[in-house]
Amino acid sequence: MSEPKRYTVTSALPYANGPLHVGHIAGAYLPGDIYVRYLRLRGRDVVYVCGSDEHGAAITIQAKKEGTTPQAIIDKYHEINKQAFKDLGINFDIYHRTSSKLHHETSSQYFKDLYDKGFFEERETEQYYDDEFSQFLADRYIIGTCPNCGNENAYGDQCEKCGTTLSPDELINPRSMLSNKAPVKRLTKHWYLPLDKQEDWLREWIIKGNGRNEEWKVNVAGQCRSWIEQGLHPRSITRDLDWGVPVPLPGAEGKVLYVWLDAPIGYISATKQWAIDNNKDWELYWKNKDTKLVHFIGKDNIVFHCIIFPTILKANNYILPTNVPANEFMNLEGRKLSTSRNWAVWVHEFLEDFPGQQDVLRYYLCSNMPETKDSEFTWADFQARNNNELVATLGNFVNRVMVLTHKYFEGKIPDGPQGDLKQEDIEFVAQIAKAYQNVGESIEKYDFRQAQNSLMELARSGDRYLGLLEPWKLYKIDPKRTAEILYNGLQVIAHLSVLSLPFLPTTSGKLRRLLNLPNEFEWNPGTVYLPTGHQLNQPELLFSKVEDETIAKQVTKLHASQPMTTPTEETPSTEGIATTQTSAYEPMKAEIVFDDFAKIDLRAGTIITAEKVEKADKLLKFTVDLGFEQRTIVSGVASHFQPETLIGQRVSIVANLAPRKLKGIESQGMILLAEDSAGKLYFTVPAEGTPNGSVIR
Ligand code: MF3
Ligand code: ZN
Repeated sequence: MSEPKRYTVTSALPYANGPLHVGHIAGAYLPGDIYVRYLRLRGRDVVYVCGSDEHGAAITIQAKKEGTTPQAIIDKYHEINKQAFKDLGINFDIYHRTSSKLHHETSSQYFKDLYDKGFFEERETEQYYDDEFSQFLADRYIIGTCPNCGNENAYGDQCEKCGTTLSPDELINPRSMLSNKAPVKRLTKHWYLPLDKQEDWLREWIIKGNGRNEEWKVNVAGQCRSWIEQGLHPRSITRDLDWGVPVPLPGAEGKVLYVWLDAPIGYISATKQWAIDNNKDWELYWKNKDTKLVHFIGKDNIVFHCIIFPTILKANNYILPTNVPANEFMNLEGRKLSTSRNWAVWVHEFLEDFPGQQDVLRYYLCSNMPETKDSEFTWADFQARNNNELVATLGNFVNRVMVLTHKYFEGKIPDGPQGDLKQEDIEFVAQIAKAYQNVGESIEKYDFRQAQNSLMELARSGDRYLGLLEPWKLYKIDPKRTAEILYNGLQVIAHLSVLSLPFLPTTSGKLRRLLNLPNEFEWNPGTVYLPTGHQLNQPELLFSKVEDETIAKQVTKLHASQPMTTPTEETPSTEGIATTQTSAYEPMKAEIVFDDFAKIDLRAGTIITAEKVEKADKLLKFTVDLGFEQRTIVSGVASHFQPETLIGQRVSIVANLAPRKLKGIESQGMILLAEDSAGKLYFTVPAEGTPNGSVIR
């Protein structure tokens, strides 16, 4: 394929069983949205589809948990997620649903067409069954010990701890999710996708890249290669479940399509619905060889998009993906993001706490996108990126130029340079073309971090240009030169409004308003948007500083809903630390009376910052939140713990100990720790849910 005639871009359909968090966005949605916005800027023909994945055990189990029906679950989360995407500016052409009639028809027919071609194998096998609930135990309904890592709560289809794909028979000590009892086995009939017969062409296509036209990312190609090299096996694509798309065959009552068969077909039904709504021909987007298909997903979806879905696409003569630029995972403050443990930054909550600041989140997630390896969301980093980059660089540059133009030229574009150009102007203006080139090249390589960085590079060069020439000092002696400098700055801002559109759409819109320009863009560094005399609107700040307090609140909020941490799980091992203990227990201290004890003020708290103390290798300095106030506490535990692992640790505090100075820092209390005979330390953790500041007695 040379230049594609059109693009079909998809982002993984999120399960409608819970809200979206920042990890989802950084993985599969923000990159897709940036890519599509860029293609549109360049005038390409694109359809961008997504929607809710509403079938499978993920949904029925969530319904059970919430004590409601699967339908109520999907209706609830479909709306929440659709809104969250919209508020974040993730601009799908359609956000469809796999529970829709059109999708049921489409996936049913798709299966039928393959069946009629003899593409599937039919097999009768014994599968786990729960006698008490009279139900077969597919996928997440069966839990057991992972043969790979020993996790006792691995699912029948996957171990979430080590990421291995499993089949129910591989689980050790399987038990039913419903009754928690050991299951029995029963005969049942299912249809299988004979992946073993697809190996040859998959090898050519994936490993050798024949007919694909684009390099795949190393992480994606590596996973695929390892799948193929381990040998592909037939996979069952139907389930005994009462929630899903019914298998459209006689004798298949009570059976539905496996969710991973129907969900990707959801991309096709979404495109069909969009075509109906917009008077388009959906087939062009799925069957025409001049169409480029790109799937944006997270790494846990790779095998489905690179192996399984392509085999059924090929079998029905649909196009294959040109690329599947899957991302790795984003962690949060040192731990894996987890919906079930509520360890997450939820998109809808972020938008409530930071109204109108969706671009700040987009900016941070893009600058930290897990493109080649897992990355880390931390609130401190979020604050730093906002304050140092959005506020101090982009916002500051734009604001200075705007304010000075109003001050000296009544907000009208002044005269630009005439005749021979000065070297500094030539260099500055050359940054515009360079930015277009770098942003474009990086986006086409799916390198979104680098692309956004190239956008910021243009803002940085603007900042430097002003700093070098200081037009605010120049006006009195040389108004003509001042005009030229501001003219150049303004032209750069106009191009920033174009280049920022894929990344920061709301900011781009603000810039257009400040510049008094319509939202009509060209991808052309030579376009002059602002002729001399053009009237600007009043300056307004683009971004605002995020304060320490705001960040501390978010950190506290994140930790507030955490179950208490047990030493075995969270305390880093102290192996290798020598001890000279002889007896297992320390001798008891002398008896005290109640009044002695009552003098001590003990409180529940949470560690919100932890850092090493300079030139003191034993000490850590903490900030502990006591609800009514925050304390600085210095403690001699540096050889026992990594400070960054202690953020959020619940602790008990001696709150009325007289302050004392350690290495020049005033320590305002003491953290209670238990010590075992080997010298290992354990936090004495207030019970789960104890509010900070509660008195312990
Ligand atoms: N719902 C799946 C997940 O969240 C993704 C489905 S992607 C699709 O992991 F291709 F199947 F639609
Ligand atoms: Zn495992």
